[in-house]
Amino acid sequence: MTLYFDTLFINAHLATMNPANTAPYGAIKDGVVGVKDGRIAWVGRRVDLPKYETENIHDCAHNWLTPGLVDCHTHFVFGGNRAREFEMRLEGVSYEEIAKSGGGILSTLIVTRATSKDDLYQQAEKRLDGLCKKGVTTLEIKSGYGLDTDTEIKMLEVAAALAARNNMRIQKTFLGAHAVPPEYKGRTNAYMDFVCEEMLPKIAKLGLVDAVDGFCENIAFSPAQIRRVFEVAGQYGLPVKLHAEQLSNQGGAKLAAEFGALSADHLEYIDEAGVKAMAAAGTIAVLLPGAFYYLKETRKPPVDLFKKHGVAMALATDFNPGSSPISSPRSIMNMACTLFGFTPEQALCGMTLNGARALGLEAETGSLEIGKSADMAIWPIQHPSELSYWLGDDNCVARVYKGEFS
Ligand code: NIG
Ligand code: FE
Repeated sequence: MTLYFDTLFINAHLATMNPANTAPYGAIKDGVVGVKDGRIAWVGRRVDLPKYETENIHDCAHNWLTPGLVDCHTHFVFGGNRAREFEMRLEGVSYEEIAKSGGGILSTLIVTRATSKDDLYQQAEKRLDGLCKKGVTTLEIKSGYGLDTDTEIKMLEVAAALAARNNMRIQKTFLGAHAVPPEYKGRTNAYMDFVCEEMLPKIAKLGLVDAVDGFCENIAFSPAQIRRVFEVAGQYGLPVKLHAEQLSNQGGAKLAAEFGALSADHLEYIDEAGVKAMAAAGTIAVLLPGAFYYLKETRKPPVDLFKKHGVAMALATDFNPGSSPISSPRSIMNMACTLFGFTPEQALCGMTLNGARALGLEAETGSLEIGKSADMAIWPIQHPSELSYWLGDDNCVARVYKGEFS
């Protein structure tokens, strides 16, 4: 039998991240990947490659080939920036104090509402180019800086346009329950009525979202309020995820698990009962060391408890103008190692396979396995631990999305 490829990648070392391969990183030295119609048609050792014909051969020059990176939690579309708040925080004002005095998310809301769709698109596309150079092939983008129907739709349409015009798989998440907008100040439940009865149904019917998120925190929404949003998401068949236990333990992770959430994110203050609930539900823990670092947090997420109970851990940049203005997935991998005790292998798994799982995309991307989309990055390194080791030098030599170089 002869195999037919569009492109055969040769002279590569593969970090497949395939859990069925028990070598560290699922590694295959001197491996090859055959791609047909944008999918991985063969992957393995060069010496085992059966008879084949191929249109193209790509010589990887003994570099390492990994799955394309998955950044599964970002607030990528927004207007303005919050450098002044950064200065205030350095002077001792806390993130919560800034939020309570109308800054934080609400200051980004004002600028995002006032920025045209074209301008938001241009600004986000520039950032997207940077992520492509850094080997990202899948990106999640949340709304949540509009908090009125028009602006939330504007943000999600920008995300959709980014996907249509660039080689990037983009998952769009509705985050109407991010903060209470100024026109509902002091009327949180009335805002929840608006989210649940108007905004979410309208946006769901437009087909603009893949998932629904919320911010469960004492400066945002209670578990009871988030429950209402999750119930409406369920009515529209949309999976849920949650910003939970970032600044305090509200029981958000348990709530997320009760709704079979794809992920609960942040989780610095989660307790063991919450971890167990996530384990039972198969909910992924998305850890965001960038926000931990940037907010100078001291309480770390309980990585040992996640391991003990078998909760898979993903990593993401949480790229946003307030708590994590960091657009470098590999810097986040480094922080996960230095701040949270990850191994470089766990960090790469967090930014590939487990990131895909946090988006419900593990059948499509996140590891080098036959049948998955051919999303890959080729790196100028001698060992995959270098992906977490070098800080600030994080461009790949080539990026492949669905088998196409870009
Ligand atoms: O993931 N925690 C809430 N949301 C974002 C921060 C958004 C912002 O500060 O603009 C986060 O950290
Ligand atoms: Fe976030």
